Amino acid sequence: MTTKSIKIEYTEYESVEQLSTDDKELLTLAMNASANAYSPYSKFKVGCAVRLANGTIVTGNNQENIAYPSGLCAERVALFSAVAQHPNIGITSIAIIAQNQDGKWCGASPCGACRQVIGEYESKSKNKIKIVLYQNDGNIVVFDGIDSLLPFRFSM
Ligand code: THU
Repeated sequence: MTTKSIKIEYTEYESVEQLSTDDKELLTLAMNASANAYSPYSKFKVGCAVRLANGTIVTGNNQENIAYPSGLCAERVALFSAVAQHPNIGITSIAIIAQNQDGKWCGASPCGACRQVIGEYESKSKNKIKIVLYQNDGNIVVFDGIDSLLPFRFSM
């Protein structure tokens, strides 16, 4: 028997200004996308931007439904849209941010289902997907790949 442990490394930035030009652009587009969320039930507007290997950026936002489970998170709206439109181009990074009812910027760490989907596209892309998350305190955390957020994810 062996007890093992996992170390999760991530980089924390104190402001959007400290991000690389590409990540700043991605987070800004995620911010813009959050404005168009359809979230009459939660009133929580999530925006997501996905960068592809050829530089294309595809955005998404959460889409809710009166039959609650029929809605979809911003991440999967953006990811499915990106891969539906560009099936042969890998994904290199994803940025996520939300705004509450008062328009205050908030963090939205992807749910388990979205993490599994990011993992699937990481395998399909054959490269790690950088994950850029805005946080409630205004810091931004950057993870180098889905293993940091969903170790031991389902695979066959
Ligand atoms: N939501 C997202 O779109 N992404 C996340 O990372 C967390 C939650 C959405 C789902 C729902 O529309 C609303 O936020 C409240 O949970």
